[in-house]
Amino acid sequence: MRHFTSLEDVSDINKLIKKSLEVKKDPFQCTGLGKNKTIGLVFFNSSLRTRMSITRAATNLGLSVITLNVNSDSWKLEFEDGTVMDGASAEHIREAVPILCSYCELLAVRSFPSLINQEEDYSERVLMSFIEHGNVPIINMESATVHPLQSLADVVTILEYQRTHKPKVVMTWGPHIQALPQAVSNSFAQWANAMEYDFVITHPKGLDLDRRFVGEASVEHDQEKALEGADFVYVKNWSSYQDYGKVMSDKSWQMTLEKLKLTNNARLMHCLPVRRNVVISDDALDSEHSIIIPQAENRLYTTQAVIQQILLNL
Ligand code: CP
Repeated sequence: MRHFTSLEDVSDINKLIKKSLEVKKDPFQCTGLGKNKTIGLVFFNSSLRTRMSITRAATNLGLSVITLNVNSDSWKLEFEDGTVMDGASAEHIREAVPILCSYCELLAVRSFPSLINQEEDYSERVLMSFIEHGNVPIINMESATVHPLQSLADVVTILEYQRTHKPKVVMTWGPHIQALPQAVSNSFAQWANAMEYDFVITHPKGLDLDRRFVGEASVEHDQEKALEGADFVYVKNWSSYQDYGKVMSDKSWQMTLEKLKLTNNARLMHCLPVRRNVVISDDALDSEHSIIIPQAENRLYTTQAVIQQILLNL
């Protein structure tokens, strides 16, 4: 594996899951692997879990870490070719990326979608610019359309908690006050389809995800029906894909303890951050159903497994 930009970069998903569990057992088995090497973390957007877990993962492997918060620390970057740069952007991606690559052996990038221009977002312009203009491995820390580091942690967490060979995993849309990307949901759908799950997506009509990510998953518009017999309930908001970026609010879709009672004593998952009593009620988040904290902790081990695999191929 050279880059880790989506599931498509992973040749053997089970091997990566196994490696993640090995790292969890002993995070210090490869402390010298990153010696004299540096990873650059390039953030176009905010983060708590991704920033902390990748920093810790890199440190466990002996890498040095440099973090660049583009919007606050750096020059505004231009991505358009052939443009006259007489506006707000002072630096072109054609210079910025090769320079970052001369300082770092690996780069990781977080860049959310605009949620205005679907074609541009779904072309992954920012992430692809780093691959096009760079010569080092690129790790996706959540891009316009996918969040593979999150999804790897999600499938590892499900494996740890599953009680049957083929668990029923339900991803349900939840209400939110802002327009959120489809990246976590797209990515979870992609990875869940690659696993042996009975995988169901439930959302109000008009919130269908891109078919390329939905794949063979069952889609059910009756949330309560979808929850029946669920072993895992993964809650996530996303804004409309069809009416691109539109916020759809239906408070009746909030996940509650009452709804979890319809399930097969399901484990409750969310990528975080979560708005309490908007997306999920307090009584559900604070119940024994919730595995959101161990889910977030797994971000560390799974990210370390990814970096480890990339370093071994350098
Ligand atoms: N789930 C996740 O990626 O969290 P952060 O946005 O805080 O990194």
